Amino acid sequence: MDKLVIEGGIPLSGSIPIGGAKNAALPILISTLTCGGTHHFRNVPQLVDIESTLSLLGRIGCPSRVEATGDFGLGVELDTSRIAFSEAPYNLVRKMRASVLVLGPLLARCGQATVALPGGCAIGVRPIDQHLMGLEALGCVFKLENGNIEGRVKHLKGAEINLSVPTVTGTENILMAAVLADGVSVIHNAAREPEIVDLVRFLRSMGARIKGEGTSTLEIDGVPALRPAREAFSILGDRIEAGTYLLAALITGGNITITGAPVADMSSLLQHLRQVGAEIETGDDWIRLTSPEKGVPVSIETAPHPGFPTDMQAQWMAAMSLLSGSCIISEKVFENRFMHVAELGRMGANIRIQGPSAHVSGVDSLTGATVMATDLRASASLILAGLAAKGQTEVLRIYHLDRGYEKLVKKIKMLGGAIARVSTHSTLPVGSLRQELGN
Ligand code: UD1
Repeated sequence: MDKLVIEGGIPLSGSIPIGGAKNAALPILISTLTCGGTHHFRNVPQLVDIESTLSLLGRIGCPSRVEATGDFGLGVELDTSRIAFSEAPYNLVRKMRASVLVLGPLLARCGQATVALPGGCAIGVRPIDQHLMGLEALGCVFKLENGNIEGRVKHLKGAEINLSVPTVTGTENILMAAVLADGVSVIHNAAREPEIVDLVRFLRSMGARIKGEGTSTLEIDGVPALRPAREAFSILGDRIEAGTYLLAALITGGNITITGAPVADMSSLLQHLRQVGAEIETGDDWIRLTSPEKGVPVSIETAPHPGFPTDMQAQWMAAMSLLSGSCIISEKVFENRFMHVAELGRMGANIRIQGPSAHVSGVDSLTGATVMATDLRASASLILAGLAAKGQTEVLRIYHLDRGYEKLVKKIKMLGGAIARVSTHSTLPVGSLRQELGN
């Protein structure tokens, strides 16, 4: 197993490309199950979650071919002509919670699906009751047996569905079944995330009839069958990866440019960064951040899109922990999403948790330490802290990062950061990484 070694204190500078969004690519690749044939994609990020998705689709009977396109990103060809097993087994669902997304499309295509109840990131209970409620409204029946959800449907019929929470994957699951239902479905209180808008764009390119993407009411006029899109579909840029690098620049007092970012979908984060004092310039798909001389801490409260994304909360906290003054970070989407707090504390951050809020009092400096990554975004926050800390930081359990950040070490090095990926058992003399860079 590997770990990351970071030597902090170097302001990041330069330019890096942002990859395709993991949370768009997963449902889009899975949505091809609704339509037999060959599908082509571009700008698919090179991530373990993508490998897991393709192996899940392979197990269902849909082989794929993957091709590296330059330094970053993948082209993917996927053949969904035949479905051999309509099932997502526990060993795959366990690794990636989003595997539950096969439920809607498999029910729509085959009339049956078996999915192990998901595990995934340890960030709260994360039930799937709303997924099941929506699919039941379309005519599916479910039973729970041996840890699996088994679903069946004879005839999918359009329905009005009122979600009690605007769940992202829940909206996607219901949407992917409703596109093939008989008649019109309306999903009220639907999630409005940009990744859902991207999924709608893709489903539409296969002939689905959907209105209202990006709003909380989705109207779907079911069609008898879909056909593969003529052209390769390019996955939307990853706003969370983009935001993570902007915060890496801020926490190190650096200036960077990112390209391939979905600028229009990042307004909440960009607005908060401006409040901190960062100078933000934007173009169609690029963002330049210039750090302030002395930033001010800004409180945030996470919320469904277009609010401040919960997937940026941990990274925001790391950045705020070094600004003089105090702020409050409230987590309103997931309970129990503060696992990074104790680890940031080991590096010297002053953060106190009270219910769903973390009170952050800025400190003058963080110091390098050995820390443990607990989930994907928590891992990113520890890397940010390590890039700013005095001395050497070791981040363990980095398999979480491989799920969601494409070639992170390479990108940080492109920005001049001192970081290396080594085997857990090796040690690097303190200062050696900075020396290599001539710092
Ligand atoms: C997706 C994202 C994840 C992000 C999250 C919130 C993917 C693959 N993952 O996760 O990165 O952090 O959105 O933006 O896109 N809930 C219920 N019942 C349900 C479903 C959800 O009560 O049936 C609750 C959850 O416990 C949570 C809230 O709804 O409190 C939001 O969860 P949800 O939007 O479903 O997150 P995911 O789709 O799992």
